[in-house]
Amino acid sequence: MNKYIRTFCRNLLNITGMWKLASTIRRSNVANVIRHVIHKRHIYVNTEGKIVFPLVNIFIVKGCNLKCEHCVSFNPFRHGMIPKEEVINTIRQWSERISPQTIALLGGEPLLHPDYQAIAIAARNTWKQSVVTIITNGLLLPKVQDDFLKRMVDHDIEFVVSRHINTENYNRSLSETIRRFQKFGVKYEMIESQKSWVTCHSLNTDGVPISPNSNPTKSWTHCLSKTCTTINNNQLYYCSVIFNMLQAVNEGSLPLVEFSGIAKHRFVTLDDSNKTILKYLRNSIPRECRFCLENFENIEAKQIPTEELKHIKLMITKMNNEFNTSGSNLI
Ligand SMILES: C[S@@+](CC[C@H](N)C(=O)[O-])C[C@H]1O[C@@H](n2cnc3c(N)ncnc32)[C@H](O)[C@@H]1O
Ligand code: SF4
Ligand code: SF4
Repeated sequence: MNKYIRTFCRNLLNITGMWKLASTIRRSNVANVIRHVIHKRHIYVNTEGKIVFPLVNIFIVKGCNLKCEHCVSFNPFRHGMIPKEEVINTIRQWSERISPQTIALLGGEPLLHPDYQAIAIAARNTWKQSVVTIITNGLLLPKVQDDFLKRMVDHDIEFVVSRHINTENYNRSLSETIRRFQKFGVKYEMIESQKSWVTCHSLNTDGVPISPNSNPTKSWTHCLSKTCTTINNNQLYYCSVIFNMLQAVNEGSLPLVEFSGIAKHRFVTLDDSNKTILKYLRNSIPRECRFCLENFENIEAKQIPTEELKHIKLMITKMNNEFNTSGSNLI
């Protein structure tokens, strides 16, 4: 009898073990789709006629003081920043139409912007009910004054710090920053690169990002950025990657021939009705998801060495020139 019970239990364990294994393999995709379904349910028009949704990204700087190989928004290949007046105008105009639960100010590195404090305070004063957060690599935080930190606490502005490097100096200054955050009561969250970075784009042998021409459904399914709605001037974009890709292509920072199809993306604007904007935000799978990798892999955060970056930038210029002179067809 015992023998039969033992065999039964072993078989049951095998079956549940197999089932567990299968569900682990599929869990991330399923979880991502569920996340999007939940996200969609959180997009609605409130009693003031404003569109409510979980997160809006506002990019204030294009360049960065780090050159992360894995950078999701191509910042190592870009430079410059958005003038304060333009960002504040974006905030002012969209405040009439949207009421996001969280406003994220980011870049590139947002703390490189000479007016990041004024911009953050403008966002806070505009969306009084929202969480306002600055997403930074933390490199410049040791340089900010105590007064600035106190002001951020007074205005209830939070920080997200992404750890992209693991050098002794950086870790020491980060510990010091966290000590100051705690001293002044600054709200913050740390994102550990080693745990959450994934490859988003493929690179050619010269290290230049190229379009993988993926299956959009596959890319979208496991994508981590599909709920990162982005605003810029009078435009609103489905996700930050589409926004940054379009900007980078327009600036000539990405090889045109590979990514030019992004130019066909139809974002929405302030001139569109709430119904059109809601439909766009709830849209499941933009065709442009083909520009993202369909198989994400966890990666180790790495910096692109300066020499290599110079070489890559030259390659990009050459590719852009070839594209311009050959007049290749847009994808
Ligand atoms: C492009 S960064 C800009 C802000 C700032 N420079 C930073 O790194 O935090 C915006 C967000 O994207 C995240 N990110 C960048 N590359 C990523 C990747 N390959 N996978 C996942 N998240 C990534 C960063 O951690 C950060 O939270
Ligand atoms: S610190 Fe942020 S913006 Fe800068 S290169 Fe790294 S991921 Fe990109
Ligand atoms: S384009 Fe698609 S796959 Fe890429 S980040 Fe946006 S939603 Fe995700």
